[in-house]
Amino acid sequence: MPITYDPTNGIFHLQAADTSYVMKVLSSGTLAHLYWGRALRGNHLSSLLRHFDKNYRKELFQIDFEEQLDQCPCEYPSFGSTDFRPPAIEVRAADGSSLVDLRYSSHTITRGKPRLPGLPATYVEDPAEADTLHICLHDRRLGLEVCLSHTIYRDHGAVARSLCVTNRSLEPIRLERVLSFVLDLKHHTWDILSLSGSWARERAYHRQRLSSGNFSIESTRGTSSHQQSPFLALAHPEATELTGDVYGFSLVYSGNFLAQVAVDQFDTTRLLMGINPFDFSWQLEPGASFQAPEVIGVASSSGLEGMSRTFHDLYRSRLARGRWRDRERPILVNNWEATYFDFNAEKLLEIARVGAELGVELFVLDDGWFKDRNRDNSSLGDWVVDRKKLPEGLQPLARKMNEFGLSFGLWIEPEMISPDSDLYRAHPDYCLHVKNAHRTQLRNQLVLDLTRPEVRDRIVEAITQVLEQAPISYVKWDMNRPLTELGSPTLPAAQQREVGHRYVLGVYEMMERITSRFPDVLFESCSGGGGRFDGGILYYMPQTWASDNMDPKDRLRIQWSTSLVFPPSSIGAHVCSSPNHITGRTTPLATRGAVAMAGAFGYELDLTRLTEEERQLARAQISLFKSVRDLVQFGDLYRLCSPYTTNAGAFCYVSRDRARAFVVYVRLEAVANSSVTTLRLRGLDPDCTYHIVETGEDLGGDQLMYAGIALPSLSSDLASVTLRLEKRPS
Ligand code: DGJ
Repeated sequence: MPITYDPTNGIFHLQAADTSYVMKVLSSGTLAHLYWGRALRGNHLSSLLRHFDKNYRKELFQIDFEEQLDQCPCEYPSFGSTDFRPPAIEVRAADGSSLVDLRYSSHTITRGKPRLPGLPATYVEDPAEADTLHICLHDRRLGLEVCLSHTIYRDHGAVARSLCVTNRSLEPIRLERVLSFVLDLKHHTWDILSLSGSWARERAYHRQRLSSGNFSIESTRGTSSHQQSPFLALAHPEATELTGDVYGFSLVYSGNFLAQVAVDQFDTTRLLMGINPFDFSWQLEPGASFQAPEVIGVASSSGLEGMSRTFHDLYRSRLARGRWRDRERPILVNNWEATYFDFNAEKLLEIARVGAELGVELFVLDDGWFKDRNRDNSSLGDWVVDRKKLPEGLQPLARKMNEFGLSFGLWIEPEMISPDSDLYRAHPDYCLHVKNAHRTQLRNQLVLDLTRPEVRDRIVEAITQVLEQAPISYVKWDMNRPLTELGSPTLPAAQQREVGHRYVLGVYEMMERITSRFPDVLFESCSGGGGRFDGGILYYMPQTWASDNMDPKDRLRIQWSTSLVFPPSSIGAHVCSSPNHITGRTTPLATRGAVAMAGAFGYELDLTRLTEEERQLARAQISLFKSVRDLVQFGDLYRLCSPYTTNAGAFCYVSRDRARAFVVYVRLEAVANSSVTTLRLRGLDPDCTYHIVETGEDLGGDQLMYAGIALPSLSSDLASVTLRLEKRPS
């Protein structure tokens, strides 16, 4: 994975897997972006500049766009000269000016990949896994240095980009926009793919065409949000799941973000991504630096599948961390939809006993276990056990679960404070607030001011005490409201617009401290369902609850689109009761199970209320999932049918050695008098024969992939089929 620099023509050529990323230092010092896509051999790369030269010039050295930056494909554009497109950086200098003029000053190429201070990012375990190029750009007038980092990996066809801005002047400089990734592409008609929605409808797949003007998605809620995901892809209009050019961008950050696409007058498309400049600024004192978060970019020439495969492999192995990264995740039962706040130790133990009988491995005690928490209107911040519900405390309860053969997990919501709590009564200033302004309660709670170290210390201490109290092996870290009244009394007026980003940094610091203090605990992130499903959180917690909506019809879609970026091992998926508590829809248990087998599998219903027949089915589901869990969580995922564009959702999980596969097919609506459904599999070895466990047939990998497999008839709405394939010895 070489990174080369040719001083004779100023060309940087980054070659990773089968891609090339090309930049050039123009004679003016502007850093131009020339190309990103399928690998180029590397000759004559300067001529790529001509693609952007409106007045074709024979002599390449004449093209430097000095007075025509709006024609120049810029690697890190600014505003104030002749580039009128959206900039990557905006500042306010001490003299009030905002012009930024960045020119190349130096570069270094290093092995490996440095960590980003205070921020989550992809990493390497051995310096031989990646190379990093640092290019410093300098604005001489301002004394401002922008150091861009581009990392390419030996085993992953992605580029990681971030940057650090340093004030080398003697005056403060206010940063008003510092985006992490910019890409100017010589093509103007793209399909933009984004994942948008709402609570219980997270990350719905949207594909829309843009050939002129602007498109953007953003979050202003303080978290990455239910409404938009910090992901965007540009797909060639003819690109499909399997073919065509797709550029995917995923921001490794959990707060307000912006992703913007702008098509200009000369048919160049500019993509920008990073921290949302809206309501953001950062006071950069002389000598100080600001680190912007990382964006992972993937250029795929094999459609959405190629893009997702790169994201999955990288995120599963070099963004997620810790002892659970590579371990199969326990099958859990969570009591939330079984009891909500209304439970006692006996009820929990009854559910756990049935769970253990069925083969469940972990019991998760959700919200309501702490003092006086009988509704969602009190006690957040007071992390002491409710002796009325659990008179003996957490430890004996956990021990009893252990005696059943289950490990024990606990829900927490460390970032919040209830006005009705001892913590708030003692420290009413501990929440985010603006002096003399109303404090908006959402779900009856306020958000802790995690910009303050003393608040973080207090919470880390309280949570540590809880987790030390009992044999807790899993934690569900919830976060149930957006940020409002963004203000902190401890920051001066000039820094109040830093609160949003400082909050995110505070969350990361707390997560780092708590997860490293309890390295054996499996942490699952949650935010009112899937309101903070992003790469930033994945760095601290290897799985995230995808949505509160477990209705299999909706959940199939949510999981399909979540899998565009995130690997199955990171997707929490549970079987709910029927009718579903959110949609009211009645659905078959078999399909609820099949859909929940798409990641970290579990149950979230009152198992004691299952009929004997349902228990048998749940027992069979659990045993099936145990037999394919390694494929689902650590194999390769192939999306066979999209529930957004067809009447079915189907996934195939294949082991890395292609010896085993697991297929899930769900038909959304029954079709009267329909013919046989044939499903073409992918990822198998065409030269081998596979035994299909459920039907007893032996069929060739070639036949299964090229002709397909005929599925048993499906006669009702939401009918499903699961199949296991095992390679026959040749
Ligand atoms: C929101 C989560 O998404 C639910 O699963 C549950 O944990 C509740 N919070 C508890 O308050």
